[in-house]
Amino acid sequence: MANILVIGAGGQIGTELVLALRKKHGEQQVVAADIKNECPPLLVGGPYVQMDVLNRDSVRNYIIYKGFDEVYLLAALLSATAEKNPDFAWKLNMEGLFTILDLAKEGHIKKIFWPSSIAVFGPTTPADMTPQTTVMEPTTVYGISKQAGERWCEYYYNKFGVDVRSIRYPGLISYKSLPGGGTTDYAVDIFYKAKSEGKYTCFLNSDTGLPMMFMDDAIRATIELMNAPKNQIKVRSSYNLGGVSITPASLSAEIQNQMPSFRIDYKPDFRQEIADSWPNSIDDSAAQNDWGWKHEYDLKSIVKTMLDNVFPE
Ligand code: SER
Repeated sequence: MANILVIGAGGQIGTELVLALRKKHGEQQVVAADIKNECPPLLVGGPYVQMDVLNRDSVRNYIIYKGFDEVYLLAALLSATAEKNPDFAWKLNMEGLFTILDLAKEGHIKKIFWPSSIAVFGPTTPADMTPQTTVMEPTTVYGISKQAGERWCEYYYNKFGVDVRSIRYPGLISYKSLPGGGTTDYAVDIFYKAKSEGKYTCFLNSDTGLPMMFMDDAIRATIELMNAPKNQIKVRSSYNLGGVSITPASLSAEIQNQMPSFRIDYKPDFRQEIADSWPNSIDDSAAQNDWGWKHEYDLKSIVKTMLDNVFPE
């Protein structure tokens, strides 16, 4: 029976990933771990441990004692928060990764999942249909940490045979657990404000194109990648994943289609510069070819699912 650990289980991705993995493997097989003392309410169905990923000794002791088939390391600071606290962001995003990579190298973990991001790209990257392999000069602390992390993942695979797998997630849209501190968060906030106030003030300009994906697709991609045969995983840095290219204007137009009274206005802040440095759309043909990836949700179905599930009537 699989023995799985999800670190950062209380976050936007972690919450839904734990629920999906428990559905697949059984409630008791998936340990949720997060910095908070209390288990998040959605995850009370299975085991929970309080874990500070920066406490290397205690993370090591716990994982060496238990031994895991799979560890998903999701604890990190996202782009906007990281710009406000660069030292801590670098420390958190890198040290946790080394702890887990080393444990796998020593044989205590069989397979690692570590998330990368579209933030690994920068202003010199081709912005439309950004290829898997291209110029990468990230200008954010978060992007630099993700790019360095990708290099280390590939290094640990090449040198030590560590089976680490990764996805460059686009902006993720979901309703079960809120995002925190990201630049793409507007695409979630907009639904909460649409449902509660009927209007939204967007912190990005109307024509800012970014790749986005509905959480169900992102979780399915993660599980499919982790279950793909080892020899099909040709990219050991991180796979591009496309989703749908969305601007605040196209998103709000589709919301207005389904909720005609909705109104939007724009007040860009420091996050505009971050968004401007990222791609508009992503070429994910490597993921398609290597492990059969295909996204399902388009703009219309994302908007419908969000409007139905955020503050349901
Ligand atoms: N969604 C993340 C952010 O906006 C990017 O990976 O920071």
